[in-house]
Amino acid sequence: MKILMVASEATPFAKTGGLADVLGSLPPALVRLGDEVGVVLPKYRIAETSGAEPVWLAMPLWVGPHAYSADIHRLIHRGVHYFFLDCPPLYDRPEIYGTYPDNHIRFALLSQAALGIARDIFRPAVLHAHDWQAGLLALYLRTTFAGDPTFFGLRSLLTIHNLGYQGNFPGTAFADLGLDPGMYNPGGVEFWGYVSFLKAGIIWSDGINTVSPTYAREIQTPEYGFGMDGLLRDHASKLSGILNGVDYEEWNPETGPHQVAHYSASDLSGKLVSKKALLAEVGLPANAKRPLIGIVSRLADQKGFDLVEEIADWLADQDLAIVVLGSGQKKYEDMFRQLATVRPEKLAVRIGYDDALAHRIEAGADMFLMPSKYEPCGLSQMYSLRYGTVPIVRATGGLEDTVDEDTGFKFIEYAPEALRDAIDQALQAFANRESWTVRMRRGMAKDFSWNTSAAEYQRLYRSLWELQSRVQL
Ligand code: ADP
Ligand code: GLC
Repeated sequence: MKILMVASEATPFAKTGGLADVLGSLPPALVRLGDEVGVVLPKYRIAETSGAEPVWLAMPLWVGPHAYSADIHRLIHRGVHYFFLDCPPLYDRPEIYGTYPDNHIRFALLSQAALGIARDIFRPAVLHAHDWQAGLLALYLRTTFAGDPTFFGLRSLLTIHNLGYQGNFPGTAFADLGLDPGMYNPGGVEFWGYVSFLKAGIIWSDGINTVSPTYAREIQTPEYGFGMDGLLRDHASKLSGILNGVDYEEWNPETGPHQVAHYSASDLSGKLVSKKALLAEVGLPANAKRPLIGIVSRLADQKGFDLVEEIADWLADQDLAIVVLGSGQKKYEDMFRQLATVRPEKLAVRIGYDDALAHRIEAGADMFLMPSKYEPCGLSQMYSLRYGTVPIVRATGGLEDTVDEDTGFKFIEYAPEALRDAIDQALQAFANRESWTVRMRRGMAKDFSWNTSAAEYQRLYRSLWELQSRVQL
């Protein structure tokens, strides 16, 4: 089957988080299973697209009253057709997302271009949109392009990677989008006075899924629904959860990139070498007996670092070390910097984005901390399991679905005491080297490769396709 995905980031071209990992690994997994897959991405200034060749020059595109002419470049990578939308007035800027006042136009154009590519270059059976940045895809398909016979029978799927990001723009943005004025109402794209790209995707896509079964249930509750739980309950019959997979070519202690030493479940010696090297790299004392907790994360409210702040004094009194790599909200960057200044022998902090160091932390740390308030799937805890780096997580979303008592430590209530107890349990367990090693090996043996989940996506694409045949009959 031919699938065309639309997204705002994908490894190895442009990445800010796990969305990119998924767009870099699900498509090749589908190709291995026999599908043909294309992915449409903006060509940002920072995008690493060397080797991409122009396949269409000066494609005329419109978003409402705004007209553009864009070149389409293609790079075949791991068997996947990656299409880059080259439109310098919109994407040749310092940041991928930024706080640009025309972000609604930047990402509306992405959907328009994807439909242009679907018509003229790569004709799919299913259009697969990811997150709010591709939220208008199904809506444009069913409105602007409704009469286009090329698209007859085409079905659409929206994957929600994070309900916390909805692409809500001031109502004044509506006039820029080229939609029928009748759409701007609570039954359409209007969401509490805003134009919501994600809401459009939820309503107009033929199918919706999220990135773990638990999160698919959670987002239908007020606690996790970000105001859209009612809407999602209304559309529950087309909503499912498919756990993300891991790219074990990229995240693998035996062969992975950027590591100081490789190791495996049968020979863990390289892990100690990795730990010593990591302590030296980040300037922590060379005490390899002390447990080392790693954090690699976007520093956002979602990730639960306010709980860490509340137990900071207790943490500083424990016999451990912590290494943090992250960037995001200033308050968390400042918090970690401040803690590292006060306790430099316990805490090392790197603010920024560093893929190589992220790999070395997975390899060198003993434990990996993800106290998330909510976590649609989470990939880092799955990477940690494969690296024998025992995860300490809050039991929510994909963390609940991938970590269990045999492989990690979980806490339920979003409260500092609950986090403290989970870390305390992990520290006590670490003292018994033998049972700790058994725990590490149990995690390393888990298989979260894409094989299973990519096959689930195949089934979902095919069920959408069958639905379409039934509708036509
Ligand atoms: P999210 O997508 O919510 O950020 P995930 O756990 O799904 O969370 O994915 C996070 C991905 O981003 C992982 O590949 C992780 O290694 C990477 N990552 C996050 N922060 C950084 C950083 N500061 N430097 C390098 N990689 C990072
Ligand atoms: C989002 C979520 C994360 C998920 C990732 C990829 O960024 O926050 O939990 O793993 O998307 O689906």
